[in-house]
Amino acid sequence: MSDVDDVKQKVDMVELVGEYVKLTRAGSNYKGLCPFHQEKTPSFMVSPELQIYKCFGCQRSGDHFTFLQEMEGLDFYEALQVLAERAGVELKKRSSAQESGKREILELNDLAARVYHYVLIKQSKGEPFLDYLIHKRGVLHETIEAFQLGAAPGETLLADYLQKKGIELEKAFDAGLLVKFGGRYRDRFSGRVIFPITNARGMVIALAGRLLPGVESRMAKYVNSPETPVYKKSQSLYGFGVTREDIRKSKAAIVVEGELDLLSVWQAGYKNSVAIKGSSVTSGQLGLLSRFADRLILALDADEAGGRATVKALVEAQELGVDILVADLSPHKDPDELARKNPVLFRKRLSQAKEGWEHVIDGIIKKHGVKNGAAKARISRELVPILGSIPDSIVQAHYIDFAARRLEVARHVVTAEVEKRAAPAGPKDDKEEKKSPVSRRERLEQELLAVCLHADPEALLEDSIAALIQTRAYRRIVKEFRNYEGKGISGFRDVLPPELKEAFSEIALLDRQSSELADILREIKILNLKEKLSLVAEKIRSLEDKGDKKALKGAEKEFSVLSEALTEAQEDV
Ligand code: CTP
Ligand code: MN
Repeated sequence: MSDVDDVKQKVDMVELVGEYVKLTRAGSNYKGLCPFHQEKTPSFMVSPELQIYKCFGCQRSGDHFTFLQEMEGLDFYEALQVLAERAGVELKKRSSAQESGKREILELNDLAARVYHYVLIKQSKGEPFLDYLIHKRGVLHETIEAFQLGAAPGETLLADYLQKKGIELEKAFDAGLLVKFGGRYRDRFSGRVIFPITNARGMVIALAGRLLPGVESRMAKYVNSPETPVYKKSQSLYGFGVTREDIRKSKAAIVVEGELDLLSVWQAGYKNSVAIKGSSVTSGQLGLLSRFADRLILALDADEAGGRATVKALVEAQELGVDILVADLSPHKDPDELARKNPVLFRKRLSQAKEGWEHVIDGIIKKHGVKNGAAKARISRELVPILGSIPDSIVQAHYIDFAARRLEVARHVVTAEVEKRAAPAGPKDDKEEKKSPVSRRERLEQELLAVCLHADPEALLEDSIAALIQTRAYRRIVKEFRNYEGKGISGFRDVLPPELKEAFSEIALLDRQSSELADILREIKILNLKEKLSLVAEKIRSLEDKGDKKALKGAEKEFSVLSEALTEAQEDV
């Protein structure tokens, strides 16, 4: 058996999902609120028999692996490691070159981080770096340990170390730890304080380095590992490996911009913080944080929050069900400066953080002033498209109201402007397109099959029931089922031809109780009658055109019989 199958067999899907989502029994399945999109009524289903999940709201579906990958922002191999550990499965040696390449980079990064950390805290060469961190930046020993900070004195400290250990320098070059300089390998982070960047599970995926002050100022203040198979800057969050559990527990995260901001804020008592290493939160980062937090407080550099990136983040956050608040730190440069200089004020500014949309609206109004008509026209040009991009119309109405009050104009005027310049389809519509809309008939047939499968599989052997199924794929499933000699729906899925497996999984996950059978049958009957009625109506029209009296009479008779049957079926509740 492959590692993957072994792990899948040993870890129960319901238990795994249950650690993130409150699941309740629904017939043969479990259901809960989808962790991947925001919803108020549960449409996220887990099948204990098939060991799969599907959300009927956002259409995400999959198995153990996809679930963990999405929930925890892991790649496939990382998810496999987590599950294997949990199941007590010892993984066979990795076969794929890609995976072993990744592992090699992680191991080298880890080794480099340990070497640099050792140099910082134990060697005299590290002293200037330690001195800088402790005395100039107020970083505590405890923080240096927690985040494994390091020092990279000299030009070739790491290269020399690796060479002595017999490690191929080309590999460290591929990992981005070394650069080539005049035909020689040299440390990429030479002369810098080292900040290991970890993933959610604490593995070192990259390093960042900051110059000591007073060194050649032509060099960039910060240098990062290049993107590698294990490091995507836009998907990573500095500090997350350390602060993840605090974020999960508090359901909130404070988002800052740089490494030293994070460390200062963390030391000031905000253990649930992360740094984005730049000024705008990316979709990848938002998605990851949304699995752990319901609320993000952006405490970015004073000049940065605002602009299109913030609007985009607000739209995405709203769809993920995350609230975004923005703290105003002005006139202080960044959270590091404020948290260290005046922790009381920092706390106050965090508690006064404004809702994201309010922050954006106020920012625009403040920029132009509201004094005269010309200023209002400029505000309108900038504000209307932004109001138009707010995804939920109730939320949108709220902020239209807010903007109107700020601008001292009537609300309907703002509403009219927003409607007039209705923003072109945003990301919301993209998502809707992904869902393949199921016709009403298909849905009813799915429901019928679901009830039968879970409550009364024998019913599918009855011709009167089987005859109700018209959709081709479902007819094939019924046919297969009639030939199926085994037991249990999991075994049944295994014998289905591959093209039917997906359709079958979807049916098996539907939340329908056997008590609903009568309703479903009635709905199908009504649908059938309506379809027949419209065919007969069509026929009547063409017979009228032809003037075929006799045939017309017959058709009219048929029509009235069907209508009566329909009325009866509709009243039969
Ligand atoms: N950054 C980066 N690469 C750069 C410049 C900046 O990754 N070339 C990231 C770093 O994570 C850095 C953050 O952006 O911590 C903020 O950069 P900057 O505004 O330059 O930081 P300062 O506050 O000026 O730096 P410091 O506090 O270290 O003096
Ligand atoms: Mn700073």
